[in-house]
Amino acid sequence: MSSYRIAVIPGDGVGNEVAREAIKVLTASAEKHGFRVQIEDFDWSCDFYLKNGVMMPEDGLEVLKAFDAIFLGCIGDANKVTDEISLTLLLRIRKGFDQYVNLRPIKLYPGVESPIKTATPGAVDLVAVRENTEGEYAGTGGFFKGGTLDAFALQTGVFTRKGCERVIRYAFDLARRRKKFGQGEKVGMVTNCTKSNALIYSMVFWDSIYGEVAKDYPDIKTDKAMVDALTMWLVKNPKDFDVIVASNLFGDIITDLGSMLQGGMGFAAGANLNPERHYPSMFEPIHGSAPKYTGKEVVNPIASIESIRMMLEHLGEEGAARDIEEAVARVLAEGKVKTPDMGGKSKTWEMGDEVKRVILG
Ligand code: IPM
Ligand code: MN
Repeated sequence: MSSYRIAVIPGDGVGNEVAREAIKVLTASAEKHGFRVQIEDFDWSCDFYLKNGVMMPEDGLEVLKAFDAIFLGCIGDANKVTDEISLTLLLRIRKGFDQYVNLRPIKLYPGVESPIKTATPGAVDLVAVRENTEGEYAGTGGFFKGGTLDAFALQTGVFTRKGCERVIRYAFDLARRRKKFGQGEKVGMVTNCTKSNALIYSMVFWDSIYGEVAKDYPDIKTDKAMVDALTMWLVKNPKDFDVIVASNLFGDIITDLGSMLQGGMGFAAGANLNPERHYPSMFEPIHGSAPKYTGKEVVNPIASIESIRMMLEHLGEEGAARDIEEAVARVLAEGKVKTPDMGGKSKTWEMGDEVKRVILG
């Protein structure tokens, strides 16, 4: 029997509630599909920082390294710790474990409503592949001449050949696997999200690497959109997209827009992948910690449950992953359980219970 060690970091705010539902579904899947999960909880969070002066222990990454995968609830509570400190936890794991692909599927399930008129279940089925370790998030820069009228700050984007090539290649491979256009001459498409008309070094470099990689994939259609125009096209014609590859910051921005196409943040799941599996990958809902809702059981756990689905896919438990997808689709289509973001009154735990019930059905 396969056995997986899973590290769970519930984090701050509503993190405990959504992590609990994610683990509920994970253990139900294990029971049904005959694999074992060994779960270990880590209380690394803003409260941990207030007690210990650090977001995670010095050897935190060393500890996590022994696990097969990590589930992260959500991090940050600005009333306790400033964001640029608390979010080091998330960014240190992404970078330290070379999780260079941030995979964010954008799919609208029947039964879920999007505030965007063009977003129908038939039209919204795309995936954002966000670079996750460098680019605008490289963390190079500094403050200079502080306290003077000449004060300035520099924040330098770092785009390496290796960093751009590997994430763009991942996007093309994904389009090849998805086969969104069926079996024809071109089986899929990768849209290059860029801004090379204004960022004349970094994004021109990025574009040139996209062009080189594309040559290896004659079966995949190429496409290019400036990030500003892309936000417009995503709303106007969501059905035109398959895989979108974007730099760290652009990927961050377009996936918040994407969350609205899929019905809101309560549905937006994400995977931080180290595709080579030298390090564990990390799975998380992309919503924040919403401290004001803590303990109220009003947050939709579907984003977290979907992150568990992505974790199981990554671990090679495809049957269990498909099962979660089907259970989520059924629960949402039936509409008996609806959390407040869906216009209902169901609690966070009721949504998790319902998905579990359908899985164990
Ligand atoms: C996300 C978040 C993070 C990011 C923040 C919290 C640092 O917005 O995962 O999208 O910008 O990557
Ligand atoms: Mn974000």
